[in-house]
Amino acid sequence: MREKYDGDAFDLQPEDLAGGWVPVFRAWFAEAVATGAPEPNAMVLATVDEAGMPATRTVLCKGLDERGVVFYTNYGSDKARAVDANPVAAVTFPWIAIHRQVHVRGAVTRVTAEETAAYWAERPRGSQLGAWASDQSRPVAGRAAMAERFAEVEARFEGADVPVPPEWGGYRIAPEVVEFWQGRENRVHNRVRLTAPDFRPVRLQP
Ligand SMILES: Cc1cc2nc3c(=O)[nH]c(=O)nc-3n(C[C@H](O)[C@H](O)[C@H](O)COP(=O)(O)O)c2cc1C
Repeated sequence: MREKYDGDAFDLQPEDLAGGWVPVFRAWFAEAVATGAPEPNAMVLATVDEAGMPATRTVLCKGLDERGVVFYTNYGSDKARAVDANPVAAVTFPWIAIHRQVHVRGAVTRVTAEETAAYWAERPRGSQLGAWASDQSRPVAGRAAMAERFAEVEARFEGADVPVPPEWGGYRIAPEVVEFWQGRENRVHNRVRLTAPDFRPVRLQP
């Protein structure tokens, strides 16, 4: 497999990022959405646990602005344990369909309970119940046991709003480094990196 990366009329320059990384991120995100490729807000999240072992998994970006990138998860999950022990993370948005990626890394903090509650309220009831039913990343006997846990929480909250589980909420990755990558002809790609605190765009060799 050998894909050519020369069909894009747009050619990223550091100057394009002079106004900050967020507007360019939003423009690229819109282009990724327009391709119709599934889940353009999916990002690969890397964490490092207390033993120094890295791990990656996909999560959905549920908020992005100058303060950073937000995702939601179970605060008892493996990723949360890693982040609690080692509060840094990196994410990559792999927008393969447009031959681009954006990478963000930095310190991680929990979002406020209010921010989590606001997002929780937008989630479908089934997802809310699923969050209660899952002790994420812990072993379970089988699907039947999971179905039983789901039925239990369904019965518990019947006729009532489903509250935010105590072990569930958001994290924000504050950007220390943001990097934009665009595939170009002959593998001479465009890479522009912005680093805190001034976020001055710098071109890197591909
Ligand atoms: C497209 C996609 C989106 C996902 N979104 C989330 C998410 O937003 N939050 C989450 O906790 N897990 C999400 N997952 C599941 C994670 O990849 C992972 O399996 C789970 O969070 C447990 O990871 P951990 O054991 O490393 O903590 C998603 C998986 C896929 C494939």
